[in-house]
Amino acid sequence: EGVSEMTLRVNGTTRTLRAEPRVTLLDALRENLNLTGSKKGCDHGQCGACTVLVDGRRINSCLTLAVMNQGKEITTIEGLAKGEELHPMQAAFVKHDGFQCGYCTPGQIMSGVACVKEGHATNDAQTREWMSGNLCRCGAYPNIVAAVREVAG
Ligand code: FES
Repeated sequence: EGVSEMTLRVNGTTRTLRAEPRVTLLDALRENLNLTGSKKGCDHGQCGACTVLVDGRRINSCLTLAVMNQGKEITTIEGLAKGEELHPMQAAFVKHDGFQCGYCTPGQIMSGVACVKEGHATNDAQTREWMSGNLCRCGAYPNIVAAVREVAG
């Protein structure tokens, strides 16, 4: 299987990389583009640590091939803050202690952003349901939900 060139649009920048066609979006982000904020927990679509936005919708980046996401707008955790200014979801996670070890946090935050944007955070139960694909082994769930609900307003 040969290495081929592909072009990805990540956090508003066009990036070119060389990788095998079978490389996942998660591996392309982490290993080719050095964007290591998206985490590899399970690599099987079961933990949500690798969550990114593609054209505004959340996906598990371990479950999609990089090559299939050419021409789409990919947003990772690195793309949320504006300079020194945290994205409101990041600020809310800080305020509500929405993390302990922090490993799941980038994925939680990306899911939270999509949750609010798509209108799934109108109450705690609905928010928990939407966020249920993002596992937190420390059990910070109440604080995570509080953070997402605050941003939802
Ligand atoms: Fe992708 Fe766990 S690393 S869902």
